[in-house]
Amino acid sequence: MTNADVIARAKRVLFQNYRTQPIAIVRGEGARAWDADGKRYLDCLGGIAVCVLGHNHPRVHAALEAQAAKLWHASNVYLTLPQIELAERLVSRSFAQRAFFCNSGAEAIEALIKLARHFHFEAGRESRVEIVCATNSFHGRTLGALAATGQPKYQKGFAPLPGGFVHVPFGDAAALERALSPNTAAVLLEPVQGEAGVIVPPANYLREVRALCDRHGALLLLDEVQTGLGRSGKMWAYEHSGITPDAMSFAKGIANGIPLGGILATEMLAKTLTPGTHGTTFGGNPLACAAACAVFDELISGVIDQGQRAAERLRGKLSAMVPRQPRVKDVRGLGMLIGIEVQGIAAAPVVAKARELGLLSNAAGESVIRLAPPLTLTDAEIDEAAEILESAITSAVA
Ligand SMILES: Cc1ncc(COP(=O)(O)O)c(C=O)c1O
Repeated sequence: MTNADVIARAKRVLFQNYRTQPIAIVRGEGARAWDADGKRYLDCLGGIAVCVLGHNHPRVHAALEAQAAKLWHASNVYLTLPQIELAERLVSRSFAQRAFFCNSGAEAIEALIKLARHFHFEAGRESRVEIVCATNSFHGRTLGALAATGQPKYQKGFAPLPGGFVHVPFGDAAALERALSPNTAAVLLEPVQGEAGVIVPPANYLREVRALCDRHGALLLLDEVQTGLGRSGKMWAYEHSGITPDAMSFAKGIANGIPLGGILATEMLAKTLTPGTHGTTFGGNPLACAAACAVFDELISGVIDQGQRAAERLRGKLSAMVPRQPRVKDVRGLGMLIGIEVQGIAAAPVVAKARELGLLSNAAGESVIRLAPPLTLTDAEIDEAAEILESAITSAVA
């Protein structure tokens, strides 16, 4: 079975999903992945910021096997231990006192929106329904998350979207303040905009946003779906800012590839979602939560710091290209979420050339090559990545 065979079969039976790259990944080990033709890659995309520990991590694998022998599913009609063990871990390393689990990033955003509105509703502030979001943000593709997303290209053709979402330029606290009103329920932001092209806001932005939310009686919701779980160089990206949100979403890296998402919130917010107001069949599934406990334990055993050092080395090597490569406009990011902005050429042909040369990445926006490799990338792998990317940038056909 070759890549071509898989592509032909997929075309016959699958919906289109993303703008899928023309290979089928059949196996992964650490930072390496293999396609159906047997070609080996350095996986610097990590399933789009998901495989924080690399593919087939032994500790996660063992946790999955052990849990698979005990219990796969019981539903939230009953309590299951892995879910509680995971929640205990997450609240021990965050601002939050309560966790809710679902299955994806978009579902986590839906839960955040419902939580914020219900919190004000329960307090008798029924007019506080509006969520202020950022232009160019990305929060997912369910209708609520899509309404929060600040990129019309994702929304086109799906009207009517749920109402009550306002968008302001990212990184501009004054613009945000103008949008706050007695109808504002919450502000919802990514600490770093991932899909928009790895946009890091000004250093004091989140601090200013927190102060504005407090002054105007709005909640601060952070979307840490892409930035959480060590990706930013700390467990959560908000830790870089010195403030805490009232609630936040997470997904992607939490179980290193087993589908799981969720939200973390303060006690005061969480208690307003009373039984029956929100729920899920699969969310907090024992298998996914057992995997996530292993991911968490591995992350706090030193992997986050290791990832931060690796990220500095990788960003340093990539930044060194800026003065000598006219096609490289900027290298930016936080931790192992890195964007290379190119000029005079689109990102897509560079991504294709890098793949041909044995490196997986993707385009975030038209002109940014996004890297979200495992935090466990070795020095040799980092050097290899930098070399391949520079060759791809110089030799890709515009
Ligand atoms: C910041 C952010 N929020 C939400 C989502 C949606 O997550 P999912 O694709 O798991 O629904 C994404 C996905 O890329 C994301 O980057």
